[in-house]
Amino acid sequence: MKAIQLDEGIHWIGANISTNDLFEGIWPIPYGVTLNSYLVQGDKLAVVDLVRDWAGAPTYVLSQMQSVGAKPKDIDYVILNHLEPDHTGWLDMIHIISEDAKVLTTEKGAEMAKALYHLKDGDIDIVKSGDTLDLGQGKVLAFEEIPHVHWPETMATYEVNSKILFSCDAFGSFGALKGSIFDDEVPKADYKYYEEETLRYYANIVGPFSGPVLKALEKVDSLDINMIAPSHGLIWRKDPQYIIEQYRAYANYSKDYAEPEITFIWGSMYGNTERMVRAVLKGIAKEEVPVHIFHVPEDDVSFILAQAWKSAGLVFGMPTYEYKMFPPMRYVVDLLSQKQARYKKVFRFGSFGWSGGAEREFEEKIERMKWDLLESFDFKGSPTEEDLNKGMEFGQELAKQVKEIPRKFTPR
Ligand code: FEO
Repeated sequence: MKAIQLDEGIHWIGANISTNDLFEGIWPIPYGVTLNSYLVQGDKLAVVDLVRDWAGAPTYVLSQMQSVGAKPKDIDYVILNHLEPDHTGWLDMIHIISEDAKVLTTEKGAEMAKALYHLKDGDIDIVKSGDTLDLGQGKVLAFEEIPHVHWPETMATYEVNSKILFSCDAFGSFGALKGSIFDDEVPKADYKYYEEETLRYYANIVGPFSGPVLKALEKVDSLDINMIAPSHGLIWRKDPQYIIEQYRAYANYSKDYAEPEITFIWGSMYGNTERMVRAVLKGIAKEEVPVHIFHVPEDDVSFILAQAWKSAGLVFGMPTYEYKMFPPMRYVVDLLSQKQARYKKVFRFGSFGWSGGAEREFEEKIERMKWDLLESFDFKGSPTEEDLNKGMEFGQELAKQVKEIPRKFTPR
């Protein structure tokens, strides 16, 4: 495989990963993921972020380096923007590949490099915001700490003359690249794919750190950027502002009601809660609000989180199970809480057999989530016609409220 040039002396040397493994051991990646690594060649040779030893990624990276005459043993610097092992899993090999390579990372990054890969102090140069590294031949790397995007140690690296920002997880996405690495070479038919995989990545990985994302975006706004080169997903050379605004919208979804859409999650034991699902959907349909429907436990929570993140309205249909919430729904609600999916207009309903209990547990769980609970509607056993009418009315009322929320981000 050949390296792909971003600018004179700057190349992409990444890998498209196709695997049945779960990302972070939790999140399915049925469309794969990219691990982007970059080579910056001046008088000195630097690699910005590494790859995990995953689905042959190091082999691709080494052959790409060789395609531009860069010998692995000549690597002078390994710039580690972020220590998570998807970008560093290969680090324990680096001194076999290049005896003298120095690792550059933040103070916290150094601590983690020692913990994860048993590097010694002499292996590492610590950098902080404002520091630069002159590689010669007009290649100057400037470092900026962007803590918690995604881990506390994270920084971004900016090549001063080409104005390329190597942003690591920031501006990243799931989804392997389909033939091209640049935004301007993506056919329109694939825009939806990249947007949905970016949203899913954001909601699954970066969402709880939306406050730090907004702080990092202030720093990005002050930079003159020609190209954004993240460590997952597309490289934005035609329209870097697009991915900046996409991330800004996603981060702001945790600060205010998101888009005028509803994510509808339901599970049913014997079809009684399911009967109410149809009635509530009928009510929502009267207002023509977009609805994303998920069935638990069949649908993976990764996809639920993504649509819930960008929806201002949430509906939960769940029966009581052993005096508590239906367990697969508890997992969804707990993850929404952990990922800090805030500011939602919510309707819950469900069937109970004896004394109920799901309602109480649900209300306790959402107390601190800044959710506006329109109604929590329980019915005993199978819903009556009167219950179904009520459910339809609640669905319509939620949709009316959600419809009033202004749209904040329009996909391409
Ligand atoms: Fe792509 Fe937080 O690692």
